[in-house]
Amino acid sequence: MSREVTVWAPATVANLNVGFDALGCALSCPGERMIVRTTETPGEVRIRSVHGASLDLNADRNIASVAAKSLLQAMGNPCGLELELFKDIKPGSGIGSSAASASGAVVAVNELLNAGLRPEELLPFALDGEQLASGARHADNVAPALLGGLVLCPPEGAPLSIPMPFDWHLVILHPQIEIRTADARGALPEMVPLSDAAAQSAWMGAFVAACHEGDSERALFSLEDLLVTPHRQGLIPHFEQMKQAALRAGARAGGISGSGPSTFWIAKDAQDAQSVGDSLEVCMTENAVPYHIHHAQIAPQGAHIVQ
Ligand code: HSE
Repeated sequence: MSREVTVWAPATVANLNVGFDALGCALSCPGERMIVRTTETPGEVRIRSVHGASLDLNADRNIASVAAKSLLQAMGNPCGLELELFKDIKPGSGIGSSAASASGAVVAVNELLNAGLRPEELLPFALDGEQLASGARHADNVAPALLGGLVLCPPEGAPLSIPMPFDWHLVILHPQIEIRTADARGALPEMVPLSDAAAQSAWMGAFVAACHEGDSERALFSLEDLLVTPHRQGLIPHFEQMKQAALRAGARAGGISGSGPSTFWIAKDAQDAQSVGDSLEVCMTENAVPYHIHHAQIAPQGAHIVQ
């Protein structure tokens, strides 16, 4: 008899300025819903439908099905799978659309097969899907999408959950243009000066230490990016103007979300977040850039079964 589950997986902000390819957090919204059911043909994975985005229905070229297939195969292909995707996170938006698909898919398969794997054990299978999108195997979107909260992904070994004791309110501005992750990665230099690399690792250390100490001011102050933003900001329309608008309106820190074009701006309460959102709206309207704004907080829970 066919079994069916529905999962929800969060959008994520990767890098957070200090941790290129290493740090990310899960957002309370938007998120992605997916229905996955078992079918009778062992090892066959198919996409039944995708709602809210135009994505490849070929199961070998779709991130969710590639991730699902990877876990199904590792479990010995006991059945087949059919996926229905409800995309509330726009592909190419820079807030982890592909990671949400990949992590939602493996959480669903884990449940359907009673595999009993922990979120960190699901990571390699989700990365098989994510790799399809960016051409690189970085976990800074997928790990927080699976584990929730703020997650550090060291170059080797399991991801580390970092305490996030702050009531930060995030404003996500998504200018309605698409930047392919592969292109945004192509804009980065292969080598960086040693002095910048040293300063960047110190900022990262300071941020993580401040999170552990519960020092919100210090954590916000540490969100510096010397390595990536200087090379990518030109890809994002009116980046400097929007940054000034957000900071003037009360944002305490912010920058490019993942590979963009979305940007994230951190406010200390809901009222400041509203002012930041309003001010970013004015900036986008003045420049005739279509946009979408999300108000979110850091979600403590990653992808999970909702039904
Ligand atoms: N760390 C990755 C990058 C995230 O910035 O390219 C991609 O969303």
